[in-house]
Amino acid sequence: MKFFIRTFGCQMNESDSERVAGILEHAGALRTGRAEEADLLIVNTCAVRQKSEEKLYSYLGRLAALKKRKPVQIGVVGCVAQLRGTDLLGKNPAIDFVLGPDNYDQLPQLIGASSHEKHVLTSWSKEWKEFPPQLIVRESSTSAYVTVMEGCDNFCAYCIVPYTRGREKYRPLRSIVSEVSHLAERGYREIQLLGQNVNSYHDPESGHGFPELLHRVARVDDIAWVRFLTSHPRNFTPQIAETMAALPTVCRQLHLPLQSGSTAILKKMKRGYTPENYLDIVALLRRLMPHISLSTDIIVGFPGETEKDFEATLDMLKTVRFTNIFSFRYSPRPLTEASRLEDDVPLAEKTRRLEEVQKLQREIQLENHRAQVGQTMPVLCLGQAPKTPHLYTGRNEGFEVVNFCSPIDCRGEFVRVCITGYGPYSLRGERVNE
Ligand code: SAH
Ligand code: SF4
Ligand code: F3S
Repeated sequence: MKFFIRTFGCQMNESDSERVAGILEHAGALRTGRAEEADLLIVNTCAVRQKSEEKLYSYLGRLAALKKRKPVQIGVVGCVAQLRGTDLLGKNPAIDFVLGPDNYDQLPQLIGASSHEKHVLTSWSKEWKEFPPQLIVRESSTSAYVTVMEGCDNFCAYCIVPYTRGREKYRPLRSIVSEVSHLAERGYREIQLLGQNVNSYHDPESGHGFPELLHRVARVDDIAWVRFLTSHPRNFTPQIAETMAALPTVCRQLHLPLQSGSTAILKKMKRGYTPENYLDIVALLRRLMPHISLSTDIIVGFPGETEKDFEATLDMLKTVRFTNIFSFRYSPRPLTEASRLEDDVPLAEKTRRLEEVQKLQREIQLENHRAQVGQTMPVLCLGQAPKTPHLYTGRNEGFEVVNFCSPIDCRGEFVRVCITGYGPYSLRGERVNE
């Protein structure tokens, strides 16, 4: 039995797919990178925007065509599975099973099941479910995702995540530290702590919060870089900034979604902070860690967003000068509070605003990158550029992509790279020996 997994969505889904692969391999199945070769096709899905969900439906069309040529099982898992459940079977009869994110342990019972029987499992578990880390089949042997919490209690007005991932639940601190130690022993150099709202973490056993988690993970020998995502400005306390500054293994890098620069829109989004609060956090971070690299998420065209509101977002981008941004056109999502508001910014206007945001950010990134030419910095080499000998790719501490030449294979290693060129989305350089 061979299986193939296609993953849409965020790091949490990428991490879940590594678990799904582990469960299937443990049950005796073999992974293949070619859908045509597989007996079992799994799609791990994202529901966060309308477009993310539509991607699933077009992809399912391709899988259904494949199923016409040979008998295969098709399983839809992840956030759209949780959201749509049984309705998915009606949308595409080629689907054999639908599994929500809390039900992956049921997979071994489903593989090879009769194609006449359809299964839909979308139950929630209120408690944190332990997963044996040795089972996870990781994509990288250098950088590892470690989930510390799941779910979200924030209910931002536009966001579907609380309905696809449920309420917040936290993993015991000792289990996190034990997984990180296990990874360090296997040669991992970078850890990315994952959660939809990581900074609200607290240990269900001792009650210790996120700063203690950072201390404990940073103390594990041989882990050189620790990152975490995603942070919510409301849960990002000054103590977290101080802890980051005190721990050299915690990267000087933070993804802190802003969403909008307008006070009125942030209020309607139910984000629980003002642009001034956000700038206070940025000021504190930069005072404690002058070179910290900041990235963010922006939504344009939220209901009621005026030209003036939008300009306030542009102003924030000009003020903060993020290293990188992820920007999206608002789309209404089922069950959310904002879906009851009139989606009154026309699509063409949303597109114009998105393009404007991206154009401004592109210029900022070009300027940020130009300023780094001639600098030498540590880069964690994550792989080889395809088909190009001696060209490698990695990330610097600020999580920027750095492509560089090296005469010797340096995958999985820290190397020093001198920046010699750049584009808007990556830096280029040469490995130097020091
Ligand atoms: N805290 C989560 C956020 C996931 S959603 C996490 O990272 O785990 C990622 C981003 O998608 C959000 O920050 C927001 O900018 C965007 N987004 C969420 N809902 C959206 C919607 N309805 N329309 C457009 N963008 C949306
Ligand atoms: Fe998409 Fe959110 Fe689910 Fe991640 S948690 S896959 S972003 S809907
Ligand atoms: Fe979504 Fe807001 Fe939570 S963006 S994941 S409801 S913090």
